[in-house]
Amino acid sequence: TGLTTFDSGFVNTAATKSDITYIDGDVGILRYRGYPIEQLAQKSTFVEVSYLLIYGELPTPEQLEVFTNKIRRHTLLHEDLKRFFDGFPRNAHPMPVVSSAANALSAYYPDSLDPKDPAQVELATIRLLAKLPTIAAYAYKKSVGQPFLYPDNSLGLVENFLRLTFGFPAEPYEVNPEVAKALDMLFILHADHEQNCSTSTVRLVGSSQANLFTSVSAGINALWGPLHGGANQAVLEMLEDIETSGGDTAEFMRRVKNKEDGVKLMGFGHRVYKNYDPRAAIVKETADQILESLGVSDPLLDIAKGLEEVALNDDYFIERRLYPNVDFYTGVIYRAMGFPTRMFTVLFALGRLPGWIAHWREMHEDTSTKIGRPRQLYTGYTERDYVPMEDR
Ligand code: CMC
Repeated sequence: TGLTTFDSGFVNTAATKSDITYIDGDVGILRYRGYPIEQLAQKSTFVEVSYLLIYGELPTPEQLEVFTNKIRRHTLLHEDLKRFFDGFPRNAHPMPVVSSAANALSAYYPDSLDPKDPAQVELATIRLLAKLPTIAAYAYKKSVGQPFLYPDNSLGLVENFLRLTFGFPAEPYEVNPEVAKALDMLFILHADHEQNCSTSTVRLVGSSQANLFTSVSAGINALWGPLHGGANQAVLEMLEDIETSGGDTAEFMRRVKNKEDGVKLMGFGHRVYKNYDPRAAIVKETADQILESLGVSDPLLDIAKGLEEVALNDDYFIERRLYPNVDFYTGVIYRAMGFPTRMFTVLFALGRLPGWIAHWREMHEDTSTKIGRPRQLYTGYTERDYVPMEDR
């Protein structure tokens, strides 16, 4: 075949060069555009981090104001697109609803589809950042049979999303500033993670010069899998199962280590981190604080901490260098905020959106980018002759 390398799962192959995010998985370091995740989580905001990821630098006050106002102006969904949600069953999982609606944006906005036109790319960027939270909130509203609200553009992005999700048309909605701050911080932690499965998907789809909406929609679908963003839902379901079966973590760990029925400790392990995931460290640190300020005490948080303690002292996990990843503790916080479990991966998608956009744009800004076209090692039959039906 002339091929010299075979790397199933891309364990050791760089598919691109990138200036956006740096990870040192052995040490547990994560930086966006050079800025440590710990500093961004503590001091920045999600909108500012989105700007940083997409444009490469922290914004000046004026740049941030322009960017924020542009996003505000685009939060509405087309009235026809709102009807789209009616076509799904009430009990539909929100992820395919959200990815379908994101993809449908390319049908509504033919004026922002050309990857080679910077003005169109900018418009598509702003539209996605503004509309995906509205789409996510409507997917939720539809699932609980509640009316859609119009965005309130006096609010910030995260506050607006909370109101669209939990508010009612005839009632004023008081955004809880603690919840908004915590969700904003969680979005920052999810905002980029270099060439993960969904981001690589966005790049691969985009490399055919497919438009930004469509490429991001593909990324949302890749994120849904339980080995990727779907892990946050899977972690909570795992914790609930352990709780309902009497809270026996030792028995659960026995099954994980024996690989019984393929049971895994969800929220543990990572392709790149062979040390504590710095995002998980921040989430764990803040989980107690956030639950306390919300007045919630959740036995699932204790089960999670118990599992972690056992795992970090167990040879199975030590030998394989398995540590908690970002998905291990987030679900407990989302639950305390009032989100149903099946919305968790949607929240991950909202957080990851600026990263997907940044990578798609970086790829197109590099004029030497070629279409992504992996090769294969063919293992099938060599040539054989067609067998007529009567001879089979
Ligand atoms: N529980 C039990 N065993 C595990 C786990 C786990 N969570 N993760 C990995 N292992 C074992 C695995 O069975 C293998 O064992 P062996 O050497 O005996 O075959 C060894 O550790 C190496 O794992 P791997 O599956 O070869 O590693 P990978 O880099 O291909 O997979 C992963 C990485 C994240 C898919 C995997 O660790 C996993 O399935 N974790 C659970 C799902 C999860 O939490 N995903 C979220 C990832 S972080 C955020 C995101 O991407 O969205």
